[in-house]
Amino acid sequence: LMVDKGNHRHFMLKEIYEQPEVVAHTLGHYVDFAERRVALPEGAEIDFAGLDRLAMSACGTAFYAALVGQYWFEQLARLPVDLDIASEFRYREVPLSANGLSLFISQSGETADTLASLRYCRAHGQKIGAIVNVPTSSIAREADYILPTLAGPEIGVASTKAFTCQLTTLLALAIGAGRQRGHLSREDEEKLVQAAIEMPRHLSQALKLEDEIEGLAKELSRVKHVLYLGRGKSFPLALEGALKLKEISYIHAEGYAAGELKHGPIALIDETMPVIVVAPYDKVFDKTVSNMQEVAARGGRIILLTDEEGARSAAVDTMKTLILPSMPAAIAPIVYAVPVQLLAYHTAVFMGTDVDQPRNLAKSVTVE
Ligand code: G6P
Repeated sequence: LMVDKGNHRHFMLKEIYEQPEVVAHTLGHYVDFAERRVALPEGAEIDFAGLDRLAMSACGTAFYAALVGQYWFEQLARLPVDLDIASEFRYREVPLSANGLSLFISQSGETADTLASLRYCRAHGQKIGAIVNVPTSSIAREADYILPTLAGPEIGVASTKAFTCQLTTLLALAIGAGRQRGHLSREDEEKLVQAAIEMPRHLSQALKLEDEIEGLAKELSRVKHVLYLGRGKSFPLALEGALKLKEISYIHAEGYAAGELKHGPIALIDETMPVIVVAPYDKVFDKTVSNMQEVAARGGRIILLTDEEGARSAAVDTMKTLILPSMPAAIAPIVYAVPVQLLAYHTAVFMGTDVDQPRNLAKSVTVE
């Protein structure tokens, strides 16, 4: 495979920086830029209007993309989603409605558990959609609808650009589904597609936080445990942040739904505990602020990822606030992926780990 790191120290960093371009490229596959509408390409013309529900399953980072997708499908298209990690899904004996659709998300298209879940759904009469980065993969070959992510080859074991391209594809599908199901007006669709078109610009802006993030990463490289919190569509980003950090820096990290803090993780909070909060100024922002106040009251050190409005209205002392551009709430999960990835990346660099090939992990897990 002829791919090199260019001027970057690691493939992971190169792939993080490719995101404005590959997200735009992927978006262009699913939307008509001039008309500001979703236009599903040939081979991907899914009829969402006739569906009662959608099943989705994936592993690792792709699963977190699916989790964001669940919020989008439910909010934008009023389409109920049955979601699970593939290793559970394949054995759950999930009852599936006749003529249903199941979606599988996989960078490699070769993950054994995801493929087994696909076959379970196929055996139970489902149509199969596959969001894959490798169009020649097993999962793509066994699908009725191939939904490619145009991220290009991803070399770093920890997924970055494939994740944001999976999210981009899911967002386009959810907008298209919303329109087909009569939940979004033509005007709603235009607004959402316009927001999506602006993602690359916001992603580029988010990349400019790198120096600030590097400073933070130095602090993080000295701790043993990190907690990530998020609510709503930021919850999967908290999970992804924790996953990225543990995968490449080997620092123990947990992602939690902010509202679940009081049901356990709050017991861990003390002055040594960094708590990274993913919280764009959206509908659930004030709720997340209450959770931050609970953390602050116990001496926890808060690192807040938000925007100008959020920084202005959050009455809470933070160790650091990273300011992202203001943007429509629907696209925030895609843009907030950048600081989350950069923080894990730079922490790992300070730890001196093998960033592109972390110990014990494989790029593609083709055995159970
Ligand atoms: C491995 C990789 C992860 C990836 C997961 C799912 O664990 O290290 O980065 O998210 O597999 O892989 P897939 O190819 O199915 O997206």
